[in-house]
Amino acid sequence: MTRSYPNTRLRRTRASAWSRAMHRETVLTSADLIWPLFVTEGQGVEDPVASLPGVSRWSVDGIAARAKEAVELGIPCIALFPHTPASLRSEKGDEALNPDNLMCRAIRAIRDACGDDIGILTDVALDPYTTHGQDGLVDQGGYVVNDDTVAVLVDQALNQAEAGADIIAPSDMMDGRVKAIRMALEMGGYANVQIMSYSAKFASAFYGPFRDAVGSSGVLKGDKKTYQMDPANALEALAEVELDLAEGADSVMVKPGLAYLDLIWRVKDRFEVPVFAYQVSGEYALIEAGAAAGLADRDVLLMEKLVAFKRAGCSGVLTYHAPVAARILNG
Ligand code: PBG
Repeated sequence: MTRSYPNTRLRRTRASAWSRAMHRETVLTSADLIWPLFVTEGQGVEDPVASLPGVSRWSVDGIAARAKEAVELGIPCIALFPHTPASLRSEKGDEALNPDNLMCRAIRAIRDACGDDIGILTDVALDPYTTHGQDGLVDQGGYVVNDDTVAVLVDQALNQAEAGADIIAPSDMMDGRVKAIRMALEMGGYANVQIMSYSAKFASAFYGPFRDAVGSSGVLKGDKKTYQMDPANALEALAEVELDLAEGADSVMVKPGLAYLDLIWRVKDRFEVPVFAYQVSGEYALIEAGAAAGLADRDVLLMEKLVAFKRAGCSGVLTYHAPVAARILNG
């Protein structure tokens, strides 16, 4: 079929708002949003993150309140990250295994406040708990060792599942961790706990504000390039996704988001599984900075970016803009 002008005028369907609405191919709703939240010690604490304007760390009671807010906004899931006090950080990140750590207390408080009305996604990796800020155990030379790290991550995942997490999200990029966590969940009586794997996670400059938020930026020595991926690699990203699916991931993630839209599409196209994007802290900060500099209207900017993830094939997006976006979407 060849279509040609003037029989075909693609501007016809764009001529009025009702027609544009009728022909819109991608619809974003608040159910597409996952809200990442930072938990901190204390009671009644709201501690703004300087590098993420509009984002705060909340004490456990505040986290429960945010979870209620999410339910009211129609946001189906929240993702938790702890700001571990420096005094509880250690070489091996043992605090990750404490059944009363910030993360576990936050999970239980959310469950008390919201019951099963919200999904709780928890990050598995040791960086919020280690004195060196790496995601795993390091050897003498500072290399992050794979298999010993996986053994600890399994215990971390079980600790979170025991506290009531619904989705375990390993963000560490160790080889074989999805399989080990899946087997442990099966054996431990958590067959219905999901795994959303950070499958294609890149060594990115866009994580800076997050590391501030969890208190890792001052402590991180070196970079994460021996486990996080080279931004130049796409085939390797597909290989990561394939392995994680074979190992038992229910859904996969591409991270960061906007600079990796091609991978979202390729993953969706090839594997036909639920794929999520993480619009990371640096992306959020750039939108806010751009809007503050008068570049464009903040709300229009952020909605354009979020719909792009949906168009590329995402089932949903982790974004710090989740509550703002949900308010816009809900009118
Ligand atoms: C750590 C982790 C990071 C993020 C989520 N989990 C940072 C890192 O890998 O250093 C980044 C999220 C963001 O920037 O918003 N395992």
